[in-house]
Amino acid sequence: MDVVVTGAAGFVGSCLCRRLLALGHRVFGLDALIPRYDPAHFERRLRDLRANPDFWLVKGDLCDEDALSSVFRLGAPQAVIHLAALASVRASLADPAAYGRVNMMGTMNLLEAARRHRVPHVVVASSGSVYGADTPLPFSEAAPADRPLSPYGASKRAMELAAWSYAYSFGLNVTVLRLFNVYGPFGRPDMMPFQWAMAIDQGRALTLYDGGRLKRDWTFIEDALDGILAALAEPGGYRLFNLGRGEPVENLRFVRELERLLGKPARIQEAPAPPTEQRETWADTSRARRELGYEPKVSVAEGLERFVRWLRDEGLVAA
Ligand SMILES: NC(=O)c1ccc[n+]([C@@H]2O[C@H](COP(=O)([O-])OP(=O)(O)OC[C@H]3O[C@@H](n4cnc5c(N)ncnc54)[C@H](O)[C@@H]3O)[C@@H](O)[C@H]2O)c1
Repeated sequence: MDVVVTGAAGFVGSCLCRRLLALGHRVFGLDALIPRYDPAHFERRLRDLRANPDFWLVKGDLCDEDALSSVFRLGAPQAVIHLAALASVRASLADPAAYGRVNMMGTMNLLEAARRHRVPHVVVASSGSVYGADTPLPFSEAAPADRPLSPYGASKRAMELAAWSYAYSFGLNVTVLRLFNVYGPFGRPDMMPFQWAMAIDQGRALTLYDGGRLKRDWTFIEDALDGILAALAEPGGYRLFNLGRGEPVENLRFVRELERLLGKPARIQEAPAPPTEQRETWADTSRARRELGYEPKVSVAEGLERFVRWLRDEGLVAA
């Protein structure tokens, strides 16, 4: 089928486009190629995609209605997978208004375009950052999620509410997926796995909050993609799923694993965790397992091995 993917040049988006094309779909991508990190990463991710005759990429902004419409008109989309966003908790503290503009208003524009073009199903990427400090662990979709710790988390929660309103008011099928700490080949250079690996490789100090005791529910990219594709297959009104691995790992253990794989010691600088940092992320994945058949397969040890192999292949760390 024809699928519109926003954020197609991003980490998750580009990997998803590759999987969709391999499954025989035609993919119409939209991305503003926002240079929030080294644009060389976009080129690396788009290299093989651009060579595929079933892949189109429009360089355009979610906030530009004409650009958005032009992507929908390229084919006859049966689904939209909305991944374009300003990501990163920390960067959102420096520029909250931009997060509101892109993640909230941009998503409203996207939902409206999907409605106008009569696309039957929209899959929206949200985040485990919508959960607050008082949310019981593991995080369940049934928790209120009305106390996000950062402007990023708030913008993602607002986006979910907009999606709900489109499902309710206009009968649009919307599936919201709360992704948790996705990492792997083609990963984001502003995320901890990438930053830590580069620091270890280059002998630079890396910062670990609270002695590395914070925990993250690291999800390997291929597992996240399996969940997204399972969600795509079954539209059904408004649906909301956590997509994590369901197994939080201490940041210190994660760094130790990277040290082992890179064969170099980390220079660890400790710092107190800011209040905007979740102490632990832990997805309750039972709903996704039950309703989507979601079954994450890649352990952190295996995922990091594949990630470091990719960093070496790309010449980003020493061979
Ligand atoms: N990677 C993770 O761990 C993670 C975790 C939770 C949620 N998410 C969500 O998953 C989605 C994809 O994340 P990612 O890690 O691939 O991030 P990414 O930054 O690599 O990709 C996002 C893409 O969106 C594009 N973009 C930003 N603003 C835009 C705009 N106004 N118009 C059009 N394109 C725009 C960027 O250029 C980028 O290519 C995002 O919605 C993010 O919030 C990611």
